[in-house]
Amino acid sequence: MFKKKPFFIVFEGIEGSGKSYQSKRLYKKLKQKKLPVILTREPGGSKTAEKIREVILDDYFHKNSDKQFHKNTDTLLYLAARNEHLINIILPALKKKKIVICDRFIDSTFAYQIYGKSVSKELVNNIHKHILGKIRPDLTILLTVKISKALSRLKKRKKKNRYDKFSKNFYIKAQNSFIKLAKKNKKKYLVFDSSIDNKNIEIEIFETILRKIMKLYGR
Ligand code: TMP
Repeated sequence: MFKKKPFFIVFEGIEGSGKSYQSKRLYKKLKQKKLPVILTREPGGSKTAEKIREVILDDYFHKNSDKQFHKNTDTLLYLAARNEHLINIILPALKKKKIVICDRFIDSTFAYQIYGKSVSKELVNNIHKHILGKIRPDLTILLTVKISKALSRLKKRKKKNRYDKFSKNFYIKAQNSFIKLAKKNKKKYLVFDSSIDNKNIEIEIFETILRKIMKLYGR
C-alpha cells in the first residue's frame, strides 16, 4: 500500500477555455486509476456555496445597474461561497488525504474582480487571510485560448452565463491576468493553449499529474 498525501489541483481560465471539460476528464482518469479524488467547483461546490452561486449568477442577468450588486458585494459573495466551500468540502477532503480537483479558485477572483473590475486587492487579501489560512493550490492548470475561439465556443452553449455577455476586452484582460499570475510562480503552474480541439492536452495533463502524484506518494 502506498502512502496517500493530499494534493490540491485547480483549473483556471476564461470561459470557453475548456477548463470545465478538462477538469472532468482528469477526474475520470484518476478515478479509473482508483486514486482518491474529488471534483468540485467555484463558485459553489457545497450545498450552501451553490445557493450563493445562484444569487451571484442571477444578478448578472439584471440589465439595470440599480438592480445589480455593487462590485464589492459581488466580491464578498464569491468569498462567502469560498468560505462555505472550504469548510465543507475542500478542507475535509484534504484532511482525508484526497486529491481535490477544483474548477476555478482564487486566481479567478484576481483575474475577474481585482484586475477585471478594479476591486481592492487589499479587501480580497484580507479576507483570504482569514478564510484560507495556509491553503493554496499545489498546482494550477491554466488553459489559455484565442479569444475568437473562446467566443465561438460560448456561442454554441445552451446555458448562458453572465460573462457570456462580457466584452472581448474583458476576456483579454482576464486572460492576461491569469497568465501574469502563472508567470509569477512557474513551479506551481502548468499552462496549456487549448485553442485547438484535440486530445493531446487531455493526455498531457493526465500524464503530468500522474507523475506528480506518484512522486508524492513515493512510488
Ligand atoms: P464558471 O463559468 O466557471 O462556472 O464560473 C462562473 C463565473 O464566476 C465565471 O464567469 C467566473 C466567475 N468567477 C468570478 O468572477 N470570481 C471568482 O472568484 C470565481 C471563482 C468565479
